[in-house]
Amino acid sequence: MFFTLLRRLSAGLFATLRGFSRRGGTWVQARPALAAWVYGDPDEADRISEAELAEENYRDFNHRYFAGFGEQEKMLADGPRMAFYAAAVARRVRRGDRVIDLGTGTGILAAFAAKSGAARVYALDHSDILRQARRLAEANGLAGVEFIATHSRDFTLPERVDVILHEQMGDYLFDEAMVANVIDLRERLLRPGGVIVPSCFEFYCEPAKVREERRIPFLWELNVQGYDYACLEDERPDNPDYYRHIGCDPGMIEHFLGEAAPALKIDLMTLQSDEPACELSVVRTVVKPGRLDGFVVFFRALEGDDLVLSSSPLDAGRAPHWGFRILRTEAADFKAGEVITLTLRVGSWAEPSGWRWSWKRSAGG
Ligand SMILES: C[S@@+](CC[C@H](N)C(=O)[O-])C[C@H]1O[C@@H](n2cnc3c(N)ncnc32)[C@H](O)[C@@H]1O
Repeated sequence: MFFTLLRRLSAGLFATLRGFSRRGGTWVQARPALAAWVYGDPDEADRISEAELAEENYRDFNHRYFAGFGEQEKMLADGPRMAFYAAAVARRVRRGDRVIDLGTGTGILAAFAAKSGAARVYALDHSDILRQARRLAEANGLAGVEFIATHSRDFTLPERVDVILHEQMGDYLFDEAMVANVIDLRERLLRPGGVIVPSCFEFYCEPAKVREERRIPFLWELNVQGYDYACLEDERPDNPDYYRHIGCDPGMIEHFLGEAAPALKIDLMTLQSDEPACELSVVRTVVKPGRLDGFVVFFRALEGDDLVLSSSPLDAGRAPHWGFRILRTEAADFKAGEVITLTLRVGSWAEPSGWRWSWKRSAGG
């Protein structure tokens, strides 16, 4: 008992020290003169790479973003989301299981796991919301859940677990570091034959028509009561964010032009890296003619054949707190039978701001 306690305390202490050291490294790297002094030759192999720096920055953002009640309540009030997780956890967590809840937030998935009979739940979160999670657990008489204030990368255990639970999906599916975080825990702490909930995902990028009254053309496409903006075409903004639209109201999408199908399928149980592809081609034969306004990005998480969590603007029962994204295009009209080919170039899946896209038209076969 004493040694278990001592081991936990020292694991916690070393995790904190590692966190300090990593953040310190990032801080130093952001100051080139200091970094040159501390690290010497900047080309040395152990220098923090740009990707690591981006990851650190995201970590910091994420840590603050989820600390307030505002984000947590949106997620908890999302009925389809919570119904999916309640059913998936009840199905996959068995009596006596040891479980890691990666990013526990207010502790809701940990509570579901405890209800399913988990012997031990390690509920991790790096954000200050953990204080409220502990209070909630006490108020609700939750037993067998250990709340640990840590980033998952810094968490270690002397034993492997049976289940990893997580909800790390962003609007673009990949933009909340889900793949890297889950793979890291899977490799280090999931026992052979253990499960990840959820593990199967479909990523979509569908050509779509936006409802007339909701459509916002590019500035140079406009002609407002005879006042023509076409001359501004040669001043297209460089800012990549300008070329995507954040949609939260599914009513703005009138229809997809083709039959929706996954552009990418991933299974976190087997995926080997967080860079599953660098160039994706999506080919759609137009079945519903109309104007192409952009490509709608959304995802579906699947648990078995029957449980689906969807962010598609056109799915009845979509999970409403997720937005969807429109990769905007200049308007182009399509007839039935024509083919649209989208090319999506991805540097890093976790960094949608670097994604670039183009499309072409061809006659149907
Ligand atoms: C989308 S919320 C989900 C919260 C909760 N699991 C739920 O379903 O309501 C993600 C949570 O994970 C935490 N988080 C994200 N990445 C993490 C990581 N690598 N390690 C620990 N916590 C993380 C965030 O602080 C946030 O509270």
